[in-house]
Amino acid sequence: MLDPVLQRIDQDFEAAIGRWSDLLRIPSVSADPAYAQSVREAAEWLAAELDGLGFQVEIQETPGHPVVLGHHPGPHADAPHLLYYGHYDVQPPDPVELWDTGPFEPTIVDGPHGRRMVCRGAVDDKGQLMLWLEALRAWKAVHGTLPVAATVVLEGEEEVGSVNLRGFLEDNRDALAADVCVVSDTTMLDVDTPAITYMLRGLLYTEITCRGPNMDLHSGFYGGAIPNPLNGLTRVLGALHDDRGRIRIPGFYDDVLEPGAEELATWQSLDVDEAAFLESVGIDRDAGAGEIDRSLIERLWSRPTGDINGIIGGYTGAGAKTVLPAEASAKVSFRLVPDQDPQHIVAGLRAFIDEHTPSGCRCEVTVHSSAPAIRIPTESPWLNAARNALKGVYGRDAALIGCGGSIPVAAWVRDVLGYDTLFMGFGLEDDRMHSPNEKFELVCFERGMRAHAALLARLAGGEP
Ligand code: BES
Ligand code: MN
Ligand code: MN
Repeated sequence: MLDPVLQRIDQDFEAAIGRWSDLLRIPSVSADPAYAQSVREAAEWLAAELDGLGFQVEIQETPGHPVVLGHHPGPHADAPHLLYYGHYDVQPPDPVELWDTGPFEPTIVDGPHGRRMVCRGAVDDKGQLMLWLEALRAWKAVHGTLPVAATVVLEGEEEVGSVNLRGFLEDNRDALAADVCVVSDTTMLDVDTPAITYMLRGLLYTEITCRGPNMDLHSGFYGGAIPNPLNGLTRVLGALHDDRGRIRIPGFYDDVLEPGAEELATWQSLDVDEAAFLESVGIDRDAGAGEIDRSLIERLWSRPTGDINGIIGGYTGAGAKTVLPAEASAKVSFRLVPDQDPQHIVAGLRAFIDEHTPSGCRCEVTVHSSAPAIRIPTESPWLNAARNALKGVYGRDAALIGCGGSIPVAAWVRDVLGYDTLFMGFGLEDDRMHSPNEKFELVCFERGMRAHAALLARLAGGEP
């Protein structure tokens, strides 16, 4: 069953790159309302692709960007039912001047691993969602049907926190019944070592606004006598961490799960080079941050964080202007781990801010998005099928890894739909996700398609 599909993938390789490029050219930036029409165009492009593969497709509206929902029946009633999830939205291309070529002009260049595609969305997630789409296409072309029942959910708001996804899952419970959710939106261990991600951190994204006087004031006439909201805000923010890198919000660590001894030993054996990790982004080898008594892997995978992403307020133009601002705000996010509850963390944050706000200032917290962390059982038929499929393609065992980033869908698929997610990702650490010159190696693209075809074969029971 599998061999002719793999051959088909080979023959169709350049055409697949062409289709991927067509999707990459659509600037589907979800964060910026100016791109809303392009976001919709990407949804329509994908809906048309699925329609061409014989899926029944609809574009469902949400209060934000639309969701593409497709369904393809299986060969028989007992066939496994997969929910394929991907996100067709991308991060803003800024700063545009740091790109070597246009951020939405797919460009193939040579690198140490052969050809690579450079474009916003190359790896996150357009290139990776095309992996399973192309595997389904090849299977259908060879066998005339699919070996599994497939439901597809393509989201246009992942990069802004999947704000309407939970509601979409709740509203479409019946249509989304399946056995397992399959996602390619994570990374490998290295270019030759595949990986299955079994834990991802959650994310709570807040904005803290601090207000003082009723207008911007002359900092000489009033300075020293009037509370300054920028001073007040940064004082609160400065109190967030202690000297050992721990967050000082009361109760913040209450529900944090500690990894077991065996798990810690496995992480240890991955032998990550902290010095190289730091130096790859221009930090001295001994100048890492965070909880000083935790290993790098723990700090990235199993420990929660708090980070200021941006501060707005006062005079930020050219030169100097003496001013006491009336208002200042900060974008503050928290990476969460199992079993932290985002609601509980927000309550703790509000109490912490009330306690630390200097008198005369008033601070307010708004929540942009929140999603809990997820931990996926490492023993399941789905995971085993993926391990076997990856071993067949790469000739070596897949690593089981954690991920410091977040993909909200999995926790909600577990809560709302009642099944688990399989994260089989093909990105590399140096793919510059969210940064200028984002890229995806063509060798990862090729093997990713093959792995998805092999997974189909395993799940269909078509391969020993
Ligand atoms: N694909 C990433 C998640 C990811 C990051 C996987 C790093 C592997 C390595 C995803 O698109 C992403 O960027 N998620 C956001 C989620 C947020 C907006 C809720 C993130 O992690 O910041
Ligand atoms: Mn992604
Ligand atoms: Mn992303």
